[in-house]
Amino acid sequence: MPQGNTKIFSIAVIPGDGIGREVVPATVSVLKQLGERFGIRFTFVELDWGSDYYFQHGRMMPADALDILRASDAILLGAIGHPKIQDNITLNGLLLPIRRAFDQFVNVRPAILYPGVQSPLAGVKSGEIDMVVVRENTEGEYAQVGGFVHHFDAKEVAVQTSVFTRTGVERVIRYAFELAVKRNGQKRVASITKSNAQAYGMVLWDRVFEEIKTQYPQVQTESLLVDAATVHFLKRPQTFDVIVASNLFGDILSDLSAAITGSIGLAPSANLDPLRRFPSMFEPVHGSAPDIAGQGKANPLATFLSAAMMLEHLEQAEAAKALDGAVRRLLQEGRVRTPDLGGSNSTQEVTEAILKAVSLQ
Ligand code: NAI
Ligand code: MG
Repeated sequence: MPQGNTKIFSIAVIPGDGIGREVVPATVSVLKQLGERFGIRFTFVELDWGSDYYFQHGRMMPADALDILRASDAILLGAIGHPKIQDNITLNGLLLPIRRAFDQFVNVRPAILYPGVQSPLAGVKSGEIDMVVVRENTEGEYAQVGGFVHHFDAKEVAVQTSVFTRTGVERVIRYAFELAVKRNGQKRVASITKSNAQAYGMVLWDRVFEEIKTQYPQVQTESLLVDAATVHFLKRPQTFDVIVASNLFGDILSDLSAAITGSIGLAPSANLDPLRRFPSMFEPVHGSAPDIAGQGKANPLATFLSAAMMLEHLEQAEAAKALDGAVRRLLQEGRVRTPDLGGSNSTQEVTEAILKAVSLQ
């Protein structure tokens, strides 16, 4: 926490797997540069958790991992996932326990079609999409309730239960409305469920949404079924502002919102404990991308933008703005970009361009 006039922040850094090991060190170098410029002192606590750790120790992170993380002001995560380990082991061994233990109950995923970036959607122009998916992050379909009966047997049965609590639903929907009020957008909230088929949890969600919306008369609302929402995202992305959805639907819709705004390599996210009892965690939306890992092709901008969200959360607005602005200008100029955006530059070249931009401003 800040002490006296010097701001000191302890940042837990988990590069994780695959391209996480490329984009996270790049981000740390950018944060160091910003720290020098804005007089922010960071202590980076590097943690080698993830799949290699699993191969050595049989677990994704040590038993006291949460205690180590608890001592930090924020967590910067790359991605986890390895082709030789089942994804449910990596996810449940690292990512999901952190989100739950620190009650990071909202996952904020902005999707902006930046000037200079082409949407794959015909007729959608730069600057026209500016939406943010607010995803419930601690329960719902990812609550990990269920089990196997007759496991691995011919007659095996798997039961997977979604968990929707009134408290959990209410707090994420309220966050979405507060964000819509605060943010410089269209003051709209769209709630996405599938309550025609999911007749308990999502009916509760819809009901809570109806209740809360009456408290925000200045905000326009709509409720969509998730299948229809995918179509609306493609047909009228310009009309979305804040979207609030369950853990699973928010996950899926934020890959879609990333795709229509140019590249998943541009999509940042923040796992927030809005009550600030615990460290929040910042990570790109993308995964470990084993198909391009180790080739120096990964777009680091999603992680830079996640770091900008981290700076914002740490109340370092000036530094956050400088980083966000540097990314926007780089995209607008269009000279230095990774292959996912149609360029031929490397992760390192993009990083160098940003380092230069944040030191020059
Ligand atoms: P992915 O997001 O890793 O990759 C999807 C596609 O997007 C790939 O073609 C990849 O090359 C491309 N891509 C992703 N990030 C990019 C970047 N920064 N620059 C350029 N191209 C980029 O999703 P996928 O392939 O489904 O999952 C790979 C692994 O990551 C799996 O093990 C999965 O479980 C894990 N994963 C982990 C997440 C996390 O740690 N939060 C989130 C999503 C997936
Ligand atoms: Mg995802």
